[in-house]
Amino acid sequence: MKYLVIGATGNIGARVAQRLINSGARPSVFVRNEKRAKALFGDRADIHIGDLENPGSSLDRAMAGVDGIFLVTDGSDLEKRDRAVSFAASHAGVRHVVKLSTLDVRTGIGTGAWHARGEDAIRESGVAFTFLQAAGFMSNALGWSQSIRRDGVLRSSTGEGRIAFIHPDDIAAVATACLTTRDHRGQALVITGPEALSYGEMAATIGKAIGKPVRFEDITDGQAYARTVEWAGKGAYADALVDIWRAVREGRLDTVTDGVKRITGREPIPFDRWAKENAASFQ
Ligand SMILES: NC(=O)c1ccc[n+]([C@@H]2O[C@H](COP(=O)([O-])OP(=O)(O)OC[C@H]3O[C@@H](n4cnc5c(N)ncnc54)[C@H](OP(=O)(O)O)[C@@H]3O)[C@@H](O)[C@H]2O)c1
Repeated sequence: MKYLVIGATGNIGARVAQRLINSGARPSVFVRNEKRAKALFGDRADIHIGDLENPGSSLDRAMAGVDGIFLVTDGSDLEKRDRAVSFAASHAGVRHVVKLSTLDVRTGIGTGAWHARGEDAIRESGVAFTFLQAAGFMSNALGWSQSIRRDGVLRSSTGEGRIAFIHPDDIAAVATACLTTRDHRGQALVITGPEALSYGEMAATIGKAIGKPVRFEDITDGQAYARTVEWAGKGAYADALVDIWRAVREGRLDTVTDGVKRITGREPIPFDRWAKENAASFQ
């Protein structure tokens, strides 16, 4: 079987491509940046260069002989790229597309509406699909590293609200299981970490991992927006993040499922393990 990973130089895609390599497969990767792909995979993957914004024939070439695709797209207009990939896949005879989506499709919170349109485009293409409706990623916590390193503080507008962040390795494990079996075709799978935690609890867990107390400081939506605009700029992404944090605060994003266990056969990785693995980022 031949697999193509789109988004292979990113957080989740790189892990999926690496898992395929570790299982003895030789995946294809569709990337904008050849150097980054070479640094990640050496000569253990077939590298196809292209840009989903303007794929030309590069996507068709990358899909020749491919059985399954793992697809990562982002942005408020990701539907365009999901459409381009799924229709090209359908045309090329690819049997299955596994899309990294979000739990928020179910509520329309944050980026949920973007991914809902992406999922619809893939359904329209007629290609068999699996949608991974993931909870927030544990790796989002790396965004707290500067204030934790500098001030020993995690500032957030999430109040006492809880969310069950999922470890990126669990997402990659689920994605690889879905790609390499026929078991989950036609399904939208909600996958979360093992327990919903408040940001205060996660601050304390990071504190334990680095051997220094980390304080949680509540901020308003307005303050959270102003801080986000500093690095993300004004626009749909900053709006989506503040919307997500508000939903966490209001207890609308505390879903916990057994998706990871059902699909991989093992328990999802807890946040304290992620914190230990990433302690150096917070010291
Ligand atoms: N963070 C969360 O809590 C969360 C929760 C649920 C769902 N999600 C979803 O997860 C996805 C993000 O996953 P991630 O963290 O793995 O993303 P990421 O690390 O930002 O990686 C994105 C990948 O897409 C590639 N890419 C971007 N634009 C491209 C284009 N025009 N043509 C070809 N490749 C392109 C990037 O390539 P370059 O290396 O060239 O930039 C990179 O490989 C988003 O859809 C997000 O909504 C996130």
